[in-house]
Amino acid sequence: MPRKLFAAATAACLLSMAGPVLAGSTQAPLKDDVHWSFESPLGMYDQAQLQRGFKVYKEVCSACHSMNLVAFRNLGDPGGPFWNPKYPNPNENPAVKAIAKDYQIADIDNDSGDAIKRPGTSADYFVPPFANKAAAAAANGGAVPPDMSLLSAAREGGPRYIYSVVTGDGADAPPGLTIPDGKYYDPWMNGDVSSYYKGDPHKIPVGGFIAMPPPLIDDRVAFDDGTKATTKQEAQDVAAFLQWAADPKMEERKQLGVSVLIFLLIFSGILYASYRQIWSKVGHG
Ligand code: HEC
Repeated sequence: MPRKLFAAATAACLLSMAGPVLAGSTQAPLKDDVHWSFESPLGMYDQAQLQRGFKVYKEVCSACHSMNLVAFRNLGDPGGPFWNPKYPNPNENPAVKAIAKDYQIADIDNDSGDAIKRPGTSADYFVPPFANKAAAAAANGGAVPPDMSLLSAAREGGPRYIYSVVTGDGADAPPGLTIPDGKYYDPWMNGDVSSYYKGDPHKIPVGGFIAMPPPLIDDRVAFDDGTKATTKQEAQDVAAFLQWAADPKMEERKQLGVSVLIFLLIFSGILYASYRQIWSKVGHG
């Protein structure tokens, strides 16, 4: 019964592709109304978009979300938002230096030993908004805003997930759903709202509650390149920036892939030519 076997194998494959699902927890299919330059196999980051996304992170998200693994100098690395080929050493990149200087870094004075604050340098890391997890939870109704350094890599769907959650946050409650105090309904947040739902048991709303107030509105930031700052644009740009933060070496990897392919092509040519050369004097019998 090869056909039955094939059907069973296909079903098994599809099931395994669905991935593990928490009991009762649901999420709307991620939004697909936006596209990013880096999604295609050879696609690169769009530097103007990374700069806009950085602005959104800096002026909005960083009030609650840390980005502990990213140093200011990383912004000027090849492929980064402020990469400038004139400054191969990002520590000398004036845009990077100017950004770092805006932050106050906790340090110890070398002479007096006192705790001080000093302006940041390109070698410093982004400053977390809260002293620790307890302080972060206390300020956010008990929920800790996750660190954003690797968030895009850690969540299925990456930038598409971030875009969906951020633009879906604060969605109107479907009829029959009561939103708990201090929470917001978000169809794209993985969760289980069944115990807050009094409607048709076959129509339990997908998604979950999130302790994050909807962070974006139109014109929440003013983009330096004149791009209109719609909520959608801000969300799309910050998602691109967070994807870069989580995978800063993507461009290098893709460029290496292309070089390897070119090498293999040339190498195959040489191999074929030498094959012809070596066997050229042997008759066909
Ligand atoms: C006022 C504080 C605050 C701001 C500002 C804020 N967030 Fe959040 N965010 C939170 C909290 C708190 C959570 C955890 C929510 C929960 O677990 O219920 C969260 C969770 C998230 C999640 C879901 C994370 C996960 O674990 O899957 C995403 C995505 C997110 N935030 C993105 C953003 C982006 C992008 C911005 C900036 C545009 C932003 N946030 C601004 C407080 C904030």
